Amino acid sequence: VQRARAAIADLTRSVAGFPAPGVVFKDLSPVLADAAGFAAVVEALSEGFDVDAVAGIDARGFLLGGAIAHRLGVGVIAVRKTGKLPPPVWSCTYDMEYGTATLEIPADALDLRGRRILIVDDVLATGGTMAAAARLLARAGAEVVAVAAVMELDGLDGRGEVERALATPVPIRVLVTG
Ligand code: PRP
Repeated sequence: VQRARAAIADLTRSVAGFPAPGVVFKDLSPVLADAAGFAAVVEALSEGFDVDAVAGIDARGFLLGGAIAHRLGVGVIAVRKTGKLPPPVWSCTYDMEYGTATLEIPADALDLRGRRILIVDDVLATGGTMAAAARLLARAGAEVVAVAAVMELDGLDGRGEVERALATPVPIRVLVTG
């Protein structure tokens, strides 16, 4: 975790005024593009989790989710933005930091009943995205047993939003706050 935190501190790029005035965009791309940084982040977000599958959230959660699933020796599930999947789908529309969005997973292609899932994303801001993913997976019969993100943004109570979406409390792992 210390190596991951050091890489995040060194390599994260902050972009003021994007995507809206007054917002500071935290760009983790340079961390993920760095061999040591990516390895450290993947290790820190994987360590100790015992799950049946990892769900990565569109789009940067895919990069992390695939690597974490591989490290844990399990499969990976893509939680997609709307319009990418053929029907039938489970879908969940939610408010996010800069508007509304819809996430979807296949309703028939995967049998998620009873499967213990870790959900992964890059950033936890308002928590709307992570909460929607948790609701979708629960609707599909999966058991969300943990959620993880590289960075949690201060002052938005993303953690509270995720907790409200889950029937029972689960570990919420973030490596840094910013
Ligand atoms: C960003 C980030 C999270 C989400 C967090 O995704 O990658 O998925 O916002 O915000 P929230 O906690 O307020 O819901 P974005 O919508 O920018 O999509 P991208 O990953 O495809 O760039």
